[in-house]
Amino acid sequence: MVSRTGRTPAAPEDAYTAEPFLPARGGIEALREAAAGCRGCPLHRDATRTVFGAGNTHARVLLVGEQPGDQEDRQGAPFVGPAGKLLDRALDEAGIDPGDTYTTNAVKHFKFEVVPERGKRRIHKSPSLREMTACKPWLDAEVRLVDPEIIVALGATAGKALLGSSFRVTRQRGILLPYEDRGESLLATIHPSAVLRADDREAVYEGLVSDLRMAARALS
Ligand code: URA
Ligand code: SF4
Repeated sequence: MVSRTGRTPAAPEDAYTAEPFLPARGGIEALREAAAGCRGCPLHRDATRTVFGAGNTHARVLLVGEQPGDQEDRQGAPFVGPAGKLLDRALDEAGIDPGDTYTTNAVKHFKFEVVPERGKRRIHKSPSLREMTACKPWLDAEVRLVDPEIIVALGATAGKALLGSSFRVTRQRGILLPYEDRGESLLATIHPSAVLRADDREAVYEGLVSDLRMAARALS
């Protein structure tokens, strides 16, 4: 079908958005249950399950990663793999109590590819802007319900999801940034897996800890 404007209207299956799956009321548990059935974008098809946020739902610090990885997809919780272990250590060193955190991801399903020459391993693929935008209503609802003092964006995808596509982690990390109408309540830093990939691991890790200290200092 072609509309009056001459463009083919998007079929419902082309409209990427989680919006119709969000519950009208309820807290984090209602959100988590609803998110388990989200089909707001194609990523639910190949992944095992929705990996929703976890942690203290009254936390002062809300951490946002990119998307679940292989381990998170299998276990159903965010940051349970190697990047999560490193993040826990960095938070501890920065003086942020893990019991005072809620952790989630910009995108709630694992996006991957299997390259036959490389075996059966599922290899992480970055989510597209369209998938990030589709999934954003879940993140917005988590921020609203947890109502943290500070949001920590871990890496470029989280930064872009929260602040828009012009976000650059190299320029905007380590300083308190304004977030919506919440004042200076966002701190961006690198993704913990960037430490795992780096040649100079120690220096990159120290940078992560130093950014997280800034978030710790911003807490009342
Ligand atoms: N990387 C992320 O961004 N999120 C996770 O949950 C795990 C690894
Ligand atoms: Fe829904 Fe987000 Fe999963 Fe897409 S990635 S199906 S929007 S929960």
